[in-house]
Amino acid sequence: MCGIVGITADPLITGNIIPQLIDSLKRLEYRGYDSAGFAFIECGADKLLVLKDKGKIDSVVKRHRVGSKCGTTGIAHTRWATHGPPSQRNAHPHADCRGEIAVAHNGIIKNFAELRELLTAKGHRFTSDTDTEVIAHLFEEYISKGMSGFDAFKKVISLIEGTYAIVLIHLGEPTRIYFARHVSPLIIGVGEGFNAVSSDIPSLLPLTRRIIVVRDGEYGYIEPYRIHIEYEGAKAEWRSRIRLVTWSIESAEKGGYPHFMFKEIMEQPRALYETYNGLLSAAAEVDKAASIISSADHIFVTGAGTSYHAGLVFAYYMSTITRLPVIPFIASEYKAYEGLGGRRAVLIAISQSGETIDTLQALRAFKARGTRIVSISNVIDSTIPRESHQAIYTRAGPEIGVAATKTFLTQILALTLLSISTAFTLGTIDSREKEDMINELEKAGKYAAKGIETSIRRIETLTDVLKNKTNMYILGRGLGVPLAYEAALKVKEVSYIHAEAYPAGESKHGPIALIEEDYPVIFIGASPSKEYIEKLQGNVMEMKSRGAFTILIGHDAYNGIKGLDYFVSVGNPSELLAPYAITPPLQLLAYKLAVSLGRDPDKPRNLAKTVTVE
Ligand code: M6R
Repeated sequence: MCGIVGITADPLITGNIIPQLIDSLKRLEYRGYDSAGFAFIECGADKLLVLKDKGKIDSVVKRHRVGSKCGTTGIAHTRWATHGPPSQRNAHPHADCRGEIAVAHNGIIKNFAELRELLTAKGHRFTSDTDTEVIAHLFEEYISKGMSGFDAFKKVISLIEGTYAIVLIHLGEPTRIYFARHVSPLIIGVGEGFNAVSSDIPSLLPLTRRIIVVRDGEYGYIEPYRIHIEYEGAKAEWRSRIRLVTWSIESAEKGGYPHFMFKEIMEQPRALYETYNGLLSAAAEVDKAASIISSADHIFVTGAGTSYHAGLVFAYYMSTITRLPVIPFIASEYKAYEGLGGRRAVLIAISQSGETIDTLQALRAFKARGTRIVSISNVIDSTIPRESHQAIYTRAGPEIGVAATKTFLTQILALTLLSISTAFTLGTIDSREKEDMINELEKAGKYAAKGIETSIRRIETLTDVLKNKTNMYILGRGLGVPLAYEAALKVKEVSYIHAEAYPAGESKHGPIALIEEDYPVIFIGASPSKEYIEKLQGNVMEMKSRGAFTILIGHDAYNGIKGLDYFVSVGNPSELLAPYAITPPLQLLAYKLAVSLGRDPDKPRNLAKTVTVE
């Protein structure tokens, strides 16, 4: 969940790497922002400098005048605290006793306490509470015994247990950065006269588009003109693994928008258009996944947070279009499904980053029982798609804001195409129906744009009404239920207002007890069917008669239902297009609430974009 980066360059080609190091680290800030730090070999000096502190990157850079320094090989870290509270002493990189080795780490070293005890007994002095510091001292220990740098590094890796992406520099080898990966993500950026390592792709985009995804269990080193990767003692071939990333630099920048979250909400029409066209031209991916699903007798879908909510939308369409039951479960709860899955089952694993540890563990547990795995991800070559039997990629472009926005709708689009293709493979729909539905989905982007356009003013006014509230309910029926869950997650995570979602019918079974004068209840009108409208009408009246402030965001067909204090129209989408029209106004509401309350929606407190610890 922390972000790590390392750059090593030939000074004759690139000069000082510090500006790039700062820039690359800032592009990783969404991964954690409790503290930040830099360690680098100073230009022309036989010295390793470590500058680190509590706080966000900009303030650390300013306080320690990092921008005024010159370095040739360096590593940097932005922290999401696990072991030890955020403070200067716990900020990475961590050094050895002599200040000649520096290490930055993302993950958790489980056996750090015993290693620390052992090293302390040998005379090593620890200066932080972190699990990471043992790595620097272990490396120091083996170097002092006369081992070469790489042998010492390999020895360290063999001793630590847990999850990690590590970068390590050593004054004795001033042009080299050691790296290792176990679970936590790591990529190599291949350059000319330089090479780089990072937790993710967007941070390296200004430097290079040529990337290699470091695989689980791999380790090695980079130098300005050399990349060396090993797995279990054997050299790994990496040249054939270089991928050319098509994401533009602008796609990973705010481009005039005040926040990434706002930019990414507004980008949804384009992201949907690109995902739609991309998947049609890679129809074989979807068809292969559909044939895996069609031959399964049990279908599971899993993910965390927003990706799980996309899974619930999938379950809805699988039931209504494909007429097949799907078992959704939250990825971190995979243990509860221990006896299930197997050769006749399929698991659909959804993860925009492709690296969420809970989803990965669920995938591995099911795969170990012979279950076929289909995955949906936004990041090419990331671990979850790589470990799947069939991967389907969304084309949302990089998502930097911690809150998932455009990746949610593009996941839904991919999953809906998958439901349609499965329905066709099974004969539930004929080729004409399939074609009609696929043609309809082409309008997803248009409906997202329309949802934003028709609602934006009303959402602004609604923000003024809701910003002083401490709680709200978000209720829906049918397809509206997962959209309500997602809306409540968005409101909570960026505005810190407590929002709770329920199926509207379920609200009578307990939640209604909280309703008092002016308690806000947002209803989602997803389906234009008479039955849904009538039932939701009943739920609105139940809330209204107890004094609730009732709001409905949805299809025009809901306009005019009684008992509403506020109505936000999103136009008239069919049920297939409803998520694209309804979700953006709800995301905008969460965003505007956050901004009006002075929160930073891109970096909500306590959160990190990719959760790589269980
Ligand atoms: O990368 P993933 O899709 O696997 O991430 C899953 C969740 O961590 C993620 O959706 C999280 O809930 C977001 N912050 C929601 O906005």
